[in-house]
Amino acid sequence: MAFRNSLAICLLLAVLGSISAGPLSARNPAAMAMLESIMKKSKWDSFVFSQEWPATVCSSSSRKCYFPENRNTWTVHGLWPSKSDGTYGPSNCETDAEFSEATLAPILDDLEKQWTDVFGESDEYSFWKHEWSKHGTCAAQLEALDSALKYFEKGLELNTNYNLTSIFLDSNIVPGNSYSLKQYTKAVESVTGAKSTVRCASKGSARVQEIRICFDKKFNVIDCFEDSNCHTKSINYEDNN
Ligand SMILES: *[C@@H]1O[C@H](CO)[C@@H](O)[C@H](O)[C@H]1NC(C)=O
Repeated sequence: MAFRNSLAICLLLAVLGSISAGPLSARNPAAMAMLESIMKKSKWDSFVFSQEWPATVCSSSSRKCYFPENRNTWTVHGLWPSKSDGTYGPSNCETDAEFSEATLAPILDDLEKQWTDVFGESDEYSFWKHEWSKHGTCAAQLEALDSALKYFEKGLELNTNYNLTSIFLDSNIVPGNSYSLKQYTKAVESVTGAKSTVRCASKGSARVQEIRICFDKKFNVIDCFEDSNCHTKSINYEDNN
């Protein structure tokens, strides 16, 4: 793909440059800056997989909200390349990458159900387009995810395999009640064996909004670097009716 080609060309330029006429950085700062930017964008080692609870996303906003067909399901927010030493990103790795709505046709139904844009009244593709250009174009450096179709299929697969509705239910955590941060994290960790991140809605009363599970590049679960932003004893799992 284009990224690998441009990386190879830049490396070649760098090598040729340093052999033929001293450091490339001195002779060609623009090429050097390009090389640095490409190297930086390829430096990541893991994923943060974020799922959200539609009821809380909706009640946190005044925008018109469209629930997924099954209101009792957590949906994908995103699958984000990250650095396990504690930072998100890189992002926007291929700014000229095309996003074709047609490529998602085979999985459109599942995307609507499981990667729902609850605010997607006029253009349901805008959320997916955003996730693809910001995060997917970096994830696409992996052969396993090197197309929009593969990238979104992976998100759907993880959403099915790490079904938070049933993970919580198995720990007797159900919508309409409140639980401690520890109860939420223990429930997820009893399934994944690793540290997850529980995110609360940023405004209003304490409500659980997102659960983040982290993976290495082979999709083994690893500890997430980010701590929870929930700071109250009791956190509501918002009723979804
Ligand atoms: C997750 O589990 C719930 C409850 O069992 C179920 O209703 C829902 O369809 C499941 N979601 C996915 C994506 O499998």
